[in-house]
Amino acid sequence: MKTYKIAVLPGDGIGQSVMEEALKILDFIALKYNINFKFKKALVGGASIDKYGVALSKETLKICEKSDAILFGSVGGAKWDNLPIKQRPERASLLPLRKHFNLFANLRPCKIYESLKQISPLKDEILQNGVDILCVRELTGGIYFGKQKFQKTKAYDTEIYHKKEIKRIAKIAFESAKARKKKVHLIDKANVLASSILWREVVGDVAKKYKDVSLEFMYVDNAAMQIIKNPAMFDVLLCSNLFGDILSDELAAISGSLGLLCSASLNDKGFGLYEPAGGSAPDIAHLNIANPIAQILSAALMLRYSFKEEKAAQDIENAVQKALKLGKMTKDLNSKNYLNTDEMGDAILEILKEQE
Ligand code: IPM
Ligand code: MN
Repeated sequence: MKTYKIAVLPGDGIGQSVMEEALKILDFIALKYNINFKFKKALVGGASIDKYGVALSKETLKICEKSDAILFGSVGGAKWDNLPIKQRPERASLLPLRKHFNLFANLRPCKIYESLKQISPLKDEILQNGVDILCVRELTGGIYFGKQKFQKTKAYDTEIYHKKEIKRIAKIAFESAKARKKKVHLIDKANVLASSILWREVVGDVAKKYKDVSLEFMYVDNAAMQIIKNPAMFDVLLCSNLFGDILSDELAAISGSLGLLCSASLNDKGFGLYEPAGGSAPDIAHLNIANPIAQILSAALMLRYSFKEEKAAQDIENAVQKALKLGKMTKDLNSKNYLNTDEMGDAILEILKEQE
């Protein structure tokens, strides 16, 4: 029997409850596909600060190192907001994990489901051509990791990119586009930034090896506008760390709910960290109303990218889509008639069980 070791890091806020639903789904996938998932739970973020004084302990890191993938919930909350910025749950857990495992490729898909069009803030006529965008974000370089200094009267951050960092993420974008609508937009600020000029050069070179994929350059300010005016024009957005951070939130916003979007952060060996794109939503943490879909879809991405279980990943994605089509919604999707977190997980599970 195939065995996969998974480090399960639910984190804070809604992380615990949505993770439970994802594990429920994975338990079923294990049965159906004869896979042995070995889950190892560990603390991360605020929960870890409370117990160990740090957001990412050596124990948790070791568990991750011994695993085949990391399934991550979400971290952060008001309780830890007064800590110095470098010790906060988000920064002090996610950034070191990304760097430690060299997770340079962040994939954030955004699809607007037919049955959820009404919750998107965009008008029907804008949505009629469909929205299916993949944000490919560089995740271990740029301004997030460049030299920074904070002094009394001045502060700075540095956007630094090496050719090889750009090249490897560009390849991911083109490979992804090849299996999709064959279009890459490089998002940059080449009218101002030197680093963007290097991005254009390197990405232009990589593009030559992908004759069937088109490449266009677009300034990030324009892209922010076009995503709202005409999202159907996009397929793959190739972004630096900071631009990808910003635009992926915009994509989440046009989908109508932060509870829907999943993400994968990968290194060159197929190891990955999988997490919902939304935050820990501490305001609704104990109300059993959080949407588990982003966590469940993140588990599907884990099956696809780290374990190469494409069929199982598709099963989950189809079940989610069908549940939504049948009107199964959590409160963020339909505040008048909704299922609780566990009921939504159960609904998806039932549909999964009915599939061939
Ligand atoms: C994200 C988050 C993180 C980021 C924060 C929490 C450090 O916003 O994953 O998009 O900026 O990368
Ligand atoms: Mn972000």
